[in-house]
Amino acid sequence: MLDNRPIGVFDSGVGGLTVLETLIKNLPNESFYYVADQGHCPYGPKPLSYVENRVVTIARHMQNIGCKAIVIACNTASLHIKAAQKAVNIPVISVIQPTAKYALETSKNKKVLVLATKATVNSGVYAQILLDGGAEVKQVACGEFVDFAENYDINDPIGAKIVADKLEAVKGFDCDTVIHGCTHFSLLEPFMKAYLGDKNFVACGGPTSAALENILSENNLLCLQKTPDSGLIDIFTTGDTQKAESAMKWFKAGHNQVKHIDIE
Ligand code: DGL
Repeated sequence: MLDNRPIGVFDSGVGGLTVLETLIKNLPNESFYYVADQGHCPYGPKPLSYVENRVVTIARHMQNIGCKAIVIACNTASLHIKAAQKAVNIPVISVIQPTAKYALETSKNKKVLVLATKATVNSGVYAQILLDGGAEVKQVACGEFVDFAENYDINDPIGAKIVADKLEAVKGFDCDTVIHGCTHFSLLEPFMKAYLGDKNFVACGGPTSAALENILSENNLLCLQKTPDSGLIDIFTTGDTQKAESAMKWFKAGHNQVKHIDIE
């Protein structure tokens, strides 16, 4: 199996790069085509129809440029996976189901805290999967964390206050597992750890990477060997390239220079 077409990965901004980092590590022969839809970020507070339109438009674009599969590396956008799957004829996966399943499997006391955007919290998708698996669930909408990850240095100590303000209400919840139900949120994990103590923090990258490997393998789409055209990482933003570069300083995986793209 030597399919070296790229895998499309997208988010409203730099959050999905937390997923891409793990995908690159676990699937080193694959090429990735990442879109940060920063011209339309944040998705969380926008109407569902607006976000669905972005998801379908980006999915079609990724199919048109020759991607072999798509990872929606954004929980809020993942709410519209069915529309994306209808719009293209390549495999599309979401971050939500693999992440929720992994959290259920790894929680010992079956008490789980879900941190996500307002749209994801209101959809109840995480809560439903976790409740069906017998867990007790609390959810907190933390859109402010997206703003922090996009606009601040992720080591800025203001992060500690932003986290404490949002999580104060659930500090007494004796959960052993915390889901980063927004791909931007794992960037604030050190602040969460300092405030909530040591928990089983579940980010979307690992579980999504396993789900991607499965679907590529089932569809004979894996690139199992290194070729001159494999292992390439292209990153685009629909916003400003300098702003993108500055918001992704923490992203260490080797990649080509970030380019601007309009996807309409
Ligand atoms: N990173 C996205 C997520 O996982 C959302 C951020 C936003 O509100 O745009 O939900």
